[in-house]
Amino acid sequence: MQKIFQTNKFILRPFKLNDAENLQKYLNNPNVAHNLSRVPYPYTLEMANDWLSKVVERNKMENPSTRNFCIEINDIASGGISLESEMPHKAIIGYWLAEDYWKKGIMSEAVKLISDYAISELNFDRLEAHVLEYNPASKRVLEKAAFSQEAFIKNYIKKDGKLIDSFQMSRIK
Ligand SMILES: CC(C)(COP(=O)(O)OP(=O)(O)OC[C@H]1O[C@@H](n2cnc3c(N)ncnc32)[C@H](O)[C@@H]1OP(=O)(O)O)[C@@H](O)C(=O)NCCC(=O)NCCS
Repeated sequence: MQKIFQTNKFILRPFKLNDAENLQKYLNNPNVAHNLSRVPYPYTLEMANDWLSKVVERNKMENPSTRNFCIEINDIASGGISLESEMPHKAIIGYWLAEDYWKKGIMSEAVKLISDYAISELNFDRLEAHVLEYNPASKRVLEKAAFSQEAFIKNYIKKDGKLIDSFQMSRIK
């Protein structure tokens, strides 16, 4: 069973199939998609439904290699945080928040919660994150959750035909 976190600002809970409409509404925003290496824009309801069916299935597993948390605000799915672990000792953290809720300290609190949990309860020895070079707010969110920069990666991704550099950030146990 996936752990649920509740704070004054939000709940972190498993995604549900009926989050699709909100997921589509909030991810189908160029200001969000521009900062994510794997989310396409435009983002359709079909993409949201496909992704949610995979995630809901995976959440039934005892120890899934990827854990996805929905950020629920005022009863509405408004963002996500993932921990993706290809090797048992480490995980990559990724996250996004609906633009309506930016700059309220929400992601700083959520990333700190999930990264503390990943280190102390899931026992990862290393957490990693990649931040596109034009996203200082995300780099700051990670720094406040005890991550530090360990590399600057040239030509990390090609997005919409443009090569983009990134900061590689990590938090070590
Ligand atoms: C990046 C993102 C996660 C930030 O979430 P948020 O809830 O608005 O962040 P917070 O309010 O908790 O904190 C943002 C921090 O960045 C700082 N910040 C914001 N804009 C900044 C800028 N241009 N330069 C430097 N710091 C900046 C804020 O001052 C704050 O730091 P502080 O608390 O020390 O003042 C959110 O904007 C988002 O989802 N963006 C689209 C997807 C994305 O970028 N995902 C991350 C991919 S690596």
